[in-house]
Amino acid sequence: MKATKREVILGIGGGIAAYKSADLLRRLQDNGYLVTVVPTPSSLNFVGAATWQALSGRPVTTQVWEKVEDVRHISLAKQADYFIIAPATADLIARLAAGRADDLLTNLVLASDVPKMIVPAMHPSMWLDAATVANVSTLRARGFIVMEPEVGRLTGSDSGQGRFPETAAIIKSFLSMTGRHQDLIGTTVIVTAGGTREAIDPVRFIGNRSSGKQGIAVAKAAASRGADVHLIAANVDIDTLPGVSITHVENAQQMLEALLESFKDCDILVMSAAVADARPKTRALEKIKKAMFTSIELEENPDILATLNATKDRQIVVGFAAETSELLASAQNKLVKKALDMIYVNDVSGGAIFGHDETAGTIVLRNGDLIPVPHQSKDTLADLLLDYALKQLG
Ligand code: C5P
Repeated sequence: MKATKREVILGIGGGIAAYKSADLLRRLQDNGYLVTVVPTPSSLNFVGAATWQALSGRPVTTQVWEKVEDVRHISLAKQADYFIIAPATADLIARLAAGRADDLLTNLVLASDVPKMIVPAMHPSMWLDAATVANVSTLRARGFIVMEPEVGRLTGSDSGQGRFPETAAIIKSFLSMTGRHQDLIGTTVIVTAGGTREAIDPVRFIGNRSSGKQGIAVAKAAASRGADVHLIAANVDIDTLPGVSITHVENAQQMLEALLESFKDCDILVMSAAVADARPKTRALEKIKKAMFTSIELEENPDILATLNATKDRQIVVGFAAETSELLASAQNKLVKKALDMIYVNDVSGGAIFGHDETAGTIVLRNGDLIPVPHQSKDTLADLLLDYALKQLG
């Protein structure tokens, strides 16, 4: 299975609605898409390249004559999974319908055969002009999804059909084109994130380096795919996440209790939290004085996944293994011991992975299949894990 398709080219036409696409870009990113903005040269009169560069975090080019050595019109076209052109002016629609390639955006459209969506915005008389009507029907006949502009007040005093639709409506159409938003509707996903802390005294604890980024990425991805998501966060600095209910816990025992309450009602559990293997046998009520702080007696923490296994029925359980040696052997061993459906193992030697936005490792499935995960963002891995979990859930 290929990783979830997430590379989007956001084409910007030269209309005043271009500024609204800054919000569209953000919402696409919220939905887990990686967006490259390709403005037409005339659109830069409304919103400059620096804005798109800053918001997308990627270089912005308008012409095939820039960065010629990269052959951008081919490399970008190859990388794209989807196009969304918003706003599309009457002129841009005409150029697309004619198959012209007179700027980078129109070159890319011609060079790529992935699904494309067009969001027109223009004066009603231009939208209703016979030339535009014919161009739109040509594009639709070629498979482009062309949204209907909204009816209402335009930039001047006129009103009619031509307004740029609300971002939420555009996102809805885009998600339905990509077929992503439906696939976790009706599914309850629990995600654990962060690292547990086991108190030694009121000041000190036994903890670990987990930042919670991977768990948050999974929670976000599941919510954007329509799941009911519950995040159990251990010492993660996060108050809200759209579409996600959050329970904060500190230690392994609290995480176990939160899961014992909710696990039976979930369909997928993604256990990305790093749980401390052991805890101090006693927690001192007062800070232990330096001279007395020479050793800590430990006791084993409950293994949360192994405990939940006793009540497991339909749930798909995804575990994580952060290792520094014998990666695959440890992962396979944990997969069996904790009765997991899959486990993601990564090499955290030398401070790699923890706290970073990127990851690399291997997914091990219950049937023994190994899926290598080359260096990529934690968001991409989140979608990939959910793809496999959904497949196993049937
Ligand atoms: O710590 P370990 O490498 O065994 O963790 C593997 C998986 O088991 C992780 O998904 C982790 O969240 C989970 N785990 C657990 N209970 C523990 C320790 C780890 O459920 N006490």
